[in-house]
Amino acid sequence: MSLQQEINKRKTFGIVSHPDAGKTTLTEKLLLFGGAIQVAGAVKSNKIKKTTTSDFMEIERQRGISVATSVMGFAYRGKQINILDTPGHADFAEDTFRTLTAVDSAIVVVDIAKGVEAQTRKLVKVCRMRATPLIFFVNKMDREGLDAFDILDQIEGELNVSVVPLSWPIGMGQRFKGVYNIYEEQLSLFRPHAKQSESETIIISDIKTDELEEHIGEEDAAVLREEIEMITSVYPKFEKEDYLKGEICPVFFGSAVNNFGVKEMLDCFVDIAPPPLTRETNVRLVQPEEENFSGFIFKIHANMDPKHRDRIAFLRICSGEFKRNTNYLHVRQEKKIKFSQPTAFMAAQKTIVETAYPGDVIGLYDSGNFKIGDTLTEGEVMRYVGIPTFSPEKFRIVENNDPMQYKKFYKGLDQLMDEGVAQLFIRTLDNKRIIGTVGALQFEVIQYRMEHEYGARVRYEPLRLFKAAWITGKPEDIKAFTSRRKRDIALDKKGDPVFLAETQWTLNSVKENHPEISFSFTSEY
Ligand code: G4P
Repeated sequence: MSLQQEINKRKTFGIVSHPDAGKTTLTEKLLLFGGAIQVAGAVKSNKIKKTTTSDFMEIERQRGISVATSVMGFAYRGKQINILDTPGHADFAEDTFRTLTAVDSAIVVVDIAKGVEAQTRKLVKVCRMRATPLIFFVNKMDREGLDAFDILDQIEGELNVSVVPLSWPIGMGQRFKGVYNIYEEQLSLFRPHAKQSESETIIISDIKTDELEEHIGEEDAAVLREEIEMITSVYPKFEKEDYLKGEICPVFFGSAVNNFGVKEMLDCFVDIAPPPLTRETNVRLVQPEEENFSGFIFKIHANMDPKHRDRIAFLRICSGEFKRNTNYLHVRQEKKIKFSQPTAFMAAQKTIVETAYPGDVIGLYDSGNFKIGDTLTEGEVMRYVGIPTFSPEKFRIVENNDPMQYKKFYKGLDQLMDEGVAQLFIRTLDNKRIIGTVGALQFEVIQYRMEHEYGARVRYEPLRLFKAAWITGKPEDIKAFTSRRKRDIALDKKGDPVFLAETQWTLNSVKENHPEISFSFTSEY
């Protein structure tokens, strides 16, 4: 098969949702369709369960599961589908944001009862930054929830996207009868407690036909006709091109746990979702069909076994063909490396691959060479851009608790930051190390991993900060500002200056007084 054919075959995407909306359940159903797993329950949720007391062994166990399910590949209708898993837990949102840079499209799961939730907002925002094509799956139609039009309004209003429903529910909860697949003009009837194969699909290309009454009764048929008419007049006609540009988002309705409405979405996804896309580097755009291999690391996972310190770095292939045991340029380190055990993941199975193509994600065993954002090429000096890092929301000063173990302390911190567990800032005034995270859980994870993996005992000191804002401007302005505000300045891992704002008010007033400086809550790896 030619490189072009390999590329056209691939669809690499992520499923995102607020925890509990049904991401894991949907993933599992997709894998069942693809034959990647045979029984339900084979994919364990990688979400860190919402325990208030953190059980570290549980976190460790779940981290292990999430390595296995980081990438789930399966074949469906002649396509190679790669699902990149994203942690649902809000405290690990940064990990999810980075994973979203490695996908070409995404599916957003929304719970009909809960509507758009906090994590949905954040994750869709990140997708919108890159104009990632999105499909929405409104889940749990077997339960009572919002009116279907209301959920569409909510998605549009709160997420700032335009939607086009491609399937439409008939009733909900106890009265849920099924969906009308607008995309394929078919009626799928919901049989509660029936197996997926027993759900009935009827081709109804003209919903005016009396046949509709036979299947769903007079009342529902009338409502459906009326609603479909409304949809046609209110929402734009579905155009694949608009979806690919990220301008409209198709919406499907269903019930993942009942495997209902999922196939409709998957079939449409396979038709419309983009193959591996052109990607941006600091010097030029790279086309997937270019002969020379290139790719970037978007995720690093430490080994669970403390005796083996090696890690797995996840590489998204962006162009050309990746070959095992071939020398590639590690651009940041300016050195050649080859990989003898590049690993592909298929649900819970791992296999060593000889070759991999754009859109694929492979795991590379790493003894500390990689950082998130690193680029590998066949020799060209370029760096993939666009992996975002956001201002943390929680901060603590981290101190070494064992004066004899400074080396271990620095090494551990360094490696955990390379993995992207949290962000480290060094305050210029006193060289104190400040750890910034999205959630409180990471502080405990860091403390635990520092001790168990690196033999370094750490303690934290509280630090009340609102946000860390990256500052840019003319070099002389930055110099003047940083020396005036020394107390509030720190350097990030790349050595870029950040302003540590104690409160929203301080930040606003500093912004007002220093129009020559730009403050940003986002940076890039
Ligand atoms: P997540 O990965 O997005 O966090 O969600 P997950 O799939 O784990 O689903 C969260 C809960 O919602 C699960 O119930 C799951 O069974 C349920 N669920 C998923 N899809 C549907 C649906 O279409 N209808 C209904 N009624 N429920 C659905 P749980 O009780 O938390 O877990 P479990 O014991 O069922 O696994």
